[in-house]
Amino acid sequence: MSLPAILNGTTRLPVVAAPLFIISHPALTLAQCKAGVVGSFPALNARPEAQLDEWLAEITQELAAHNTRNPGRPAAPFAVNQIVHKSNKRLEHDLMLCVKYKVPIVISSLGAVPEVNAAIHSYGGIVLHDVINNRHADSAIRKGADGLIAVATGAGGHAGTLSPFALIQEIRTWFDGPLLLSGAISTGGAVLAAQAMGADMAYIGSPFIATTEARASDAYKQMIVDSAAADIVYSNYFTGIHGNYLKPSITAAGMDPDHLPEADPSKMDFETATTGAKAWKDIWGCGQGIGAVTEIAPVANLVDRLAREYAEARQKLAL
Ligand SMILES: Cc1cc2nc3c(=O)[nH]c(=O)nc-3n(C[C@H](O)[C@H](O)[C@H](O)COP(=O)(O)O)c2cc1C
Repeated sequence: MSLPAILNGTTRLPVVAAPLFIISHPALTLAQCKAGVVGSFPALNARPEAQLDEWLAEITQELAAHNTRNPGRPAAPFAVNQIVHKSNKRLEHDLMLCVKYKVPIVISSLGAVPEVNAAIHSYGGIVLHDVINNRHADSAIRKGADGLIAVATGAGGHAGTLSPFALIQEIRTWFDGPLLLSGAISTGGAVLAAQAMGADMAYIGSPFIATTEARASDAYKQMIVDSAAADIVYSNYFTGIHGNYLKPSITAAGMDPDHLPEADPSKMDFETATTGAKAWKDIWGCGQGIGAVTEIAPVANLVDRLAREYAEARQKLAL
C-alpha cells in the first residue's frame, strides 16, 4: 500500500472529510483542513459557477496564510469533488478552475473519464474516484484515476450495498494503490478498522453535517444528533439513484418513508438534483453511522474526538 506524497504524512489522522452537496462550503472545508483532515467540497456547491473562482481563491489563500502562521502544524490539503455526469453542464468550466488553482486532490464521482484525470495530472494533482463495486473500481483505474474511494453500505448520499469487508477485500486482490473506505465511519475506532481491513484512509461525511461550520439548517443538524441507524432509509425515489436519507425529514415533507415508490433512473439530474421532491434541501441525506454523533460541535472538536478514539483503539489493540 502506498500513499501519494500529497496524502502521506500531511494529515493528523488518516481521514478525508467527504464532499456534501449544498452543505460543504469554504468555512467547512477550511475548518476541516485546519483541524488536520483533508477538507473537501463539491464544485457544484459554488453557485453561480463564477463563485467557484472566488471559493478557490479564498481557500488557497487562507490555507497558505494558515501554514505561514503555523509552520509546525500546517493544514491538511483540500479536495474538490467533480460530478462526471452528462447532467453536469459545468464540468469543463469547473475543471479549468481546478487546473488554474492547482487543486491538490480531485474526487470524481459517477463517470470515470480519462480527460478529467489528464487535466488534473497536468499540474501534478491526483484523482480519487468513488465506486460502489469492484467492476467500477477496475474501470476507474484503467481510465487513469490515481486512487479509489470504496463507498460501502450505510454511507450517506448515494451509497452502495456491499459490505465494506467484501468490497475492500475484492479491490485489494488487484489494487495496491491509494484506497479509501466510506460508509458509516463515525468513530476513531472505525477509522482504525478501515485501515485494519486494508484501506489507507477513512472517508467521512455525515458526522460533519452536525458541525457548527456546516451549511445545513439547525433542524437538520439536530435531527442527526437525535437519530440513529434505524432512522435511515435507502431509496432511489429522490434522485433516481439509491441513497440513504433521514426518515424524519421524509415524514416532515408529507411522505411515508417506509412506502416510497421506485424512481426512474433516467430522470437523474445533478444540476437540479431533484425529481419531484426537493432532494437534499428538504429530504436530508445521511449515513447510518450517526449514532456516534451526540452533539452539534465545531469541526475541531469532532476531529479531536476522532483522534482521541483512534489513539485509544490503537492502544487497546496494543499497536
Ligand atoms: C447530505 C450528503 C450529501 C452528499 N453529497 C455528495 C456530493 O455532492 N458528491 C459526492 O461525491 N458525494 C456526496 N455525498 C457522499 C459523501 O461524499 C460520502 O460518500 C458519504 O457521506 C460517506 O458516508 P457517511 O456519510 O456514512 O460518512 C453526500 C453525502 C451526504 C450525506
